[in-house]
Formats: sequence, structure tokens, C-alpha cells
Amino acid sequence: MRKNPAPELLERGASLDEVAESARGCTACDLYKNATQTVFGEGSARAEVMLVGEQPGDQEDVSGEPFVGPAGKLLDRALEEAGIDRRKTYVTNVVKHFKWMPKGKRRIHKKPNREEITACRPWLEAEIALVKPRVVVCLGATAAQALLGASFRVTKDRGKFVEWDLEPMVTATVHPSSILRADDQRRASEFAALVADLKGVAGALK
Ligand code: URA
Ligand code: SF4
Repeated sequence: MRKNPAPELLERGASLDEVAESARGCTACDLYKNATQTVFGEGSARAEVMLVGEQPGDQEDVSGEPFVGPAGKLLDRALEEAGIDRRKTYVTNVVKHFKWMPKGKRRIHKKPNREEITACRPWLEAEIALVKPRVVVCLGATAAQALLGASFRVTKDRGKFVEWDLEPMVTATVHPSSILRADDQRRASEFAALVADLKGVAGALK
């Protein structure tokens, strides 16, 4: 296992493309072993808004792009309703390889552990340092706790802007997958709440 080379790349003045290229060969934790490929962030290199999920899912693992599966489709709709153009955002994840376990013929998502999150986080820190977004939006508890600390509670503090010592403003909302999992009665209101949080992001950029 190698250590994550992102901090050294940053020190050498590497570009976002160079960092992404290096991440393709990352072996800083064991997750690369059972995944198809690294799924690095994608989008505008000058994005004002960076959206951060947990880790790629099954479809992202196959395509190599973040948030292209069901959760990504829901996110696209929420962004559109909030008046945020996804093409002007940068979309990424805290962990860049798909962690899964078999269930019949399917591969189902398994939560990354602290060690994996810690090993992978320098890639996210490099993305933030190079894209320099004005707002980072954590999607769900894994992203929020990775960036804001283990005591952060999305349910309590979603939609608020957190003060921290790094450059961008940061806020958190629910993960789009949680809306897909919600029962029929709650899905519409939870989707509306996500849109409201994203409208808050759009408003903060004005
Ligand atoms: N869920 C995530 O957290 N990220 C993706 O890229 C897809 C699903
Ligand atoms: Fe490297 Fe992150 Fe993949 Fe682990 S999950 S191997 S740290 S890119």
C-alpha cells in the first residue's frame, strides 16, 4: 500500500488533470482491489459550487464518472429545480473507489470506514485547493463528517453554512440516495427539502 501522493503533487504545483491522472493509480487503501477504476471528480475546473458525495456507486464504478446512476439523476433534477447548472459545478466524492459486497448477482454499497476515508481525503483536499470553489456542499453524513468532524449532524444542521478555517464556505444536506430510499409518502417532501437547501447555496453565491 502506498501513501496518498496528493499532498506532494500539490506542493509541486500539479494541475487538476495531473492530480486526477495520478489518482487513477492510487493504492493508498485496499478499496482499489475490488473496484473497476478510480472515480475522480468531474465538472468545471473553475466551479463555484463543489458537490461532495460519499463514494461511487455501481454505475459510477463501471462508467468512471461520479453521480451518473439513480442518485445522480435525482441530484440533477434537484439542482435544476434549485437553479444550479450542473455543468457549472464540480461533482466528486470523499472516497474514490466503489466499496461493495455481493448480494445475489448484485453489488451493493458498503459504507467506507474511517481508515479508507482518511486515506482518500487528500484527493478531495487537492480538488478543493485546485478548483477553489466558493461553496462546498456535503451530500450526506459521510461527506459532512469527513469535512466537518464526526460530531456533525446533517439532520440538525443541514442547509446552514458552517464556519471553518479553509477557504470555501461549506454546507451540508442529505444524500440523494436517502431520498430514493424514503417511502412514497415522504419522498416528495424530502426532495423539496433538498431543493430548498440547494436554493440556499444558489442564494449564497449572489
Ligand atoms: N453516491 C455517491 O455518494 N456518489 C456517487 O458518485 C454516486 C452515488
Ligand atoms: Fe486511493 Fe481512495 Fe481508492 Fe483508497 S479509495 S485506493 S485512497 S483512491
